Amino acid sequence: MKAAVYYQNGGPEVLRYEDVPDPMCGADEVMIRVEAISLEGGDLLHRQSSPPPARPHIVGYSTAGEIVALGADVTGFACGQKVITFAWAGSHAELRTSKAAHTWALPPGLDVRSGAGIPAAFGTAHECLVEAARVRAGDSVLVLGASGGVGVAAVQLARRAGARVTGTAGSAAKLARLHALGMHEGIDYRRDDVGAAIARHAGEHGYDVCIDTVGGRALQAASKAMTVNGRLIIAGCAAREPNLIDSVDIMVGRYSVTGVIAGFDFATPRLHAAIGELIAAIARGELVMPIAREFPLAEAAAAHAWVESGAAGFGRVLLIP
Ligand SMILES: NC(=O)c1ccc[n+]([C@@H]2O[C@H](COP(=O)([O-])OP(=O)(O)OC[C@H]3O[C@@H](n4cnc5c(N)ncnc54)[C@H](OP(=O)(O)O)[C@@H]3O)[C@@H](O)[C@H]2O)c1
Repeated sequence: MKAAVYYQNGGPEVLRYEDVPDPMCGADEVMIRVEAISLEGGDLLHRQSSPPPARPHIVGYSTAGEIVALGADVTGFACGQKVITFAWAGSHAELRTSKAAHTWALPPGLDVRSGAGIPAAFGTAHECLVEAARVRAGDSVLVLGASGGVGVAAVQLARRAGARVTGTAGSAAKLARLHALGMHEGIDYRRDDVGAAIARHAGEHGYDVCIDTVGGRALQAASKAMTVNGRLIIAGCAAREPNLIDSVDIMVGRYSVTGVIAGFDFATPRLHAAIGELIAAIARGELVMPIAREFPLAEAAAAHAWVESGAAGFGRVLLIP
């Protein structure tokens, strides 16, 4: 099969489009012919800095496509069925395997392009907001990285829970799209002094909940703006800046800090079912994941570069084999 692979970490230019052996389908796995790959923030971070476990390495979490093989122990799925799959690697390829427990049926009304990125974006946002933060109606919620995949999902889920939502993004156009999805207040981190803006929007009460997917200066500012008994949830580091939280701010602020890696729990009945419900809600049009642009898989390097340039539009970037 063809795949976008790399042999060492680095910028988008390390990606090569090559022939590699087809994957083997394990007993508890499904194999799909990939029809859409959702380019995730974590895919970029891995390419940049996670040492490849094998050479060549196929990066990537999220895909949707048609099942072409089933492991001996798999029940509940059938060859020919369209599904959404998550795995820790292997998305940037024509064929990919994933655990059946990391696989969800694509419901009627949802296409592979809209479905491919749902588990990583909405599953993570759900885990942060609902499980970790126990978000409640009336909470003030700050989403750092609101224009990213996880952020777009978090804004919608926080709003659906009845929260008042503030978010950061890198342009006025992206903030406008987020307002259309229900965000109340926006901070342009490229134009504004992000620390001052986060403090100003916190007001006297502070934030009940912060979902952080970027880290760095924004996280530092949020860590000084939480309310007593607030919940600061750390889920990402897209800013690639040093994280400098002062423990005294946590102590004096009397709030909790929780780290989340949602993928560790995707296979639990609890989170697997919650993601299934989110997929159904998106199929019904109650939640959305906009698609910014599509690239052929053969142009994976250009797709990574476009996202990293900051020029990327609003929503997910897809690779199409
Ligand atoms: N813990 C988990 O379970 C989990 C799950 C999924 C993802 N993640 C992590 O969460 C992060 C985001 O993932 P994603 O898929 O949502 O990524 P994404 O779609 O690429 O979005 C990245 C977000 O970060 C913002 N950003 C980039 N550089 C920034 C900076 N210097 N200052 C402030 N904001 C900045 C972007 O804003 P603009 O685009 O508007 O510039 C965008 O909102 C990544 O670190 C990823 O590894 C964690």
